Amino acid sequence: MTDVQTAAPTHSAPGVLGRIFGNSQDGATGDGHEQVVLCHDRSSGLKAIIAIHSTALGPALGGTRFFPYASEEAALEDALNLSRGMSYKNALAGLDLGGGKAVIIGDPNKDKNEAMLRAYGRFVESLRGRYITACDVGTYVQDMDVIARETEFVTGRSPEHGGAGDSSILTAFGVFQGMRASAQARWGQPTLRGKRVGVAGVGKVGHYLVGHLVADGATVVITDVSEAAVNRVRAAHPEVEVVADTAALLQAKLDVYAPCALGGALTDDSVAALGEFGTVIVCGAANNQLAHPGVEKDLADRGILYAPDYLVNSGGVIQVADEIDGFNFERAKNKATRIFDTTLEIFTRAAADGVPPAVAADRLAEKRMREISALRSVLLPGARRG
Ligand SMILES: NC(=O)c1ccc[n+]([C@@H]2O[C@H](COP(=O)([O-])OP(=O)(O)OC[C@H]3O[C@@H](n4cnc5c(N)ncnc54)[C@H](O)[C@@H]3O)[C@@H](O)[C@H]2O)c1
Repeated sequence: MTDVQTAAPTHSAPGVLGRIFGNSQDGATGDGHEQVVLCHDRSSGLKAIIAIHSTALGPALGGTRFFPYASEEAALEDALNLSRGMSYKNALAGLDLGGGKAVIIGDPNKDKNEAMLRAYGRFVESLRGRYITACDVGTYVQDMDVIARETEFVTGRSPEHGGAGDSSILTAFGVFQGMRASAQARWGQPTLRGKRVGVAGVGKVGHYLVGHLVADGATVVITDVSEAAVNRVRAAHPEVEVVADTAALLQAKLDVYAPCALGGALTDDSVAALGEFGTVIVCGAANNQLAHPGVEKDLADRGILYAPDYLVNSGGVIQVADEIDGFNFERAKNKATRIFDTTLEIFTRAAADGVPPAVAADRLAEKRMREISALRSVLLPGARRG
């Protein structure tokens, strides 16, 4: 028989478990995750990971990504990063929701089927509302309707089921509000009129953003690897300039750069190019734009005002969160309009504290998580806990 004491490792293994458990004592905002659930349904082949980073502000809301990860470790890593990001996004958006995210391992075009989605729905249900799911890369409103046959803890549903439908409409609207606030901070007027704005990626969000910019009187330059995406914008707005790729866009003497494709757009090289060609604002929809820590400081040092991505792209989560109480588009749009004020507040705090806006945004999100979760110490008679 194994001697448990001698068989036990003498020190905890670093790596992914270390990331989950973290080492901060601050339960509301600290690193680490509250709960990570590995879900396996043998018959449908479902392999999913639900990561709840924090329920400090309420049930953890975040979408389900269906993606052919290179490894299960890569899937876990993604779930941990994305769920943490949702805690900060939901906190700054003023929602009474914590942060979570789920990933389903597989190719959505080949592996997705009803049984798998419903099996996933049953795992979501088993968390009894600690996690609420929604769409993300590889999942669509129709998938949420299937998942909803097994759980009530799902939002981002189709309009015929009372859902909000396409979240990119308010995401683009929110990015536009963040850009208007950036213009106010930089030039004293909340408008892009007469400014040259480059949009990298004119997919679901990017093409709506172009519409707002054109209506506001901006000169818009776009690029996209998809010819169909470019043609759709050209058809709606023939005056828009098109350049071959992102490298050309960065050199297009932009006033404002809007990354709306994939994450990691702000690298050492791209920031250097922006600085060289006179761009003074970065504000776009893409998640996780900063390629590595330190880029936010490089932007600030070059005098480029960076509107934090998770702040300005929260219109979509505001939309699906609204659906939890019965969707009302005008109410959700009003909430997304407040991204303008929050962006200005972040710039003011950043200037006062002498830190880049990305740091000021993190601090404000953490402050809200700390202060609001502390309310639970006020006893409500009748409520057993919480
Ligand atoms: N849809 C939402 O509500 C929402 C909410 C928050 C954040 N976001 C983020 O915004 C970004 C865009 O989301 P979306 O829903 O519009 O996605 P999408 O897939 O509809 O659009 C992305 C576009 O980028 C293009 N693209 C990809 N690689 C490119 C490259 N190297 N250069 C130029 N173009 C490239 C694609 O062809 C596509 O047209 C993503 O990072 C997403 O995570 C989206």
